[in-house]
Amino acid sequence: TPENRGQTSHKSHLAERKKLFFNRNAIMKFRRKSKKKSSGLESLVNRGLMEATKPIFENINKLMAYYRCAIMEVETKLNVLNEQFSLQYDRNPISSIQTRLKRMDSISEKLARDDLPMTLQSMEENLNDIAGVRVICSFPEDVYMIAEALLSQDDITLISKKDYIREPKTNGYRSLHLIVTVPIFLADEKRLMKVEIQLRTIAMDSWASLEHQLRYKKEFEFTDQMADELYRCAQISAELDARMDNLRSIVHGNIKNKR
Ligand code: GTP
Ligand code: MG
Repeated sequence: TPENRGQTSHKSHLAERKKLFFNRNAIMKFRRKSKKKSSGLESLVNRGLMEATKPIFENINKLMAYYRCAIMEVETKLNVLNEQFSLQYDRNPISSIQTRLKRMDSISEKLARDDLPMTLQSMEENLNDIAGVRVICSFPEDVYMIAEALLSQDDITLISKKDYIREPKTNGYRSLHLIVTVPIFLADEKRLMKVEIQLRTIAMDSWASLEHQLRYKKEFEFTDQMADELYRCAQISAELDARMDNLRSIVHGNIKNKR
């Protein structure tokens, strides 16, 4: 009968819907399962990768921690010198100290640029500026006094020295650069770490930081004329240092005479 037919059709419609529903359920279930499967595989791969790279990361972290310790050692030595000098002469030769640890991306960039192996050993052997300490002094004389006092300490070894104060770079840059090794004492060993120390006056530092800012404006072309102008600024900054140092020696001389 049409009614029956209707019913059957209704029934079959229901059955169809039921089937569809279960199908959908089955699909969803399958999807969930396969998703689980793939994420299981993924996590397995991730875990494998993590297992494999764990020792590398641990060693990098350890080495970077050693460099941080070396920075602390050097910074403490500088603070002690500053303290001692201020007791003796009633003024601070060090105006401020900045430290920085080279970032991993800059490290790998530099290794790649110089065609050096990407290993921790190569990093330690070839890069001198992973640990950096910048010492901003009041007067040029202080730069040399602090450098000498630091280098005369028996656990500091000079690796190289570049005196861009006596011989400024062609662009006018001035600073005294030292690469030294300093020992750090760990629970079971002593390790010599390299540290780059840049010593400069306040005037040298302000020139260098402004020059750096100008030079790295990518959208701007740096003309020869501007380079000349920067060089003249460096000369004025050097003259300022010389005149201030002159004043310092007069004041210092007067104090000495009065004593
Ligand atoms: P890097 O490969 O850049 O470390 O140079 P280098 O190994 O030849 O050493 P150098 O002693 O010449 O310079 C080391 C660091 O001194 C740089 O990373 C800068 O922080 C600083 N420096 C050197 N030259 C200049 C300069 O012309 N301008 C400024 N603002 N900083 C400079
Ligand atoms: Mg450098």
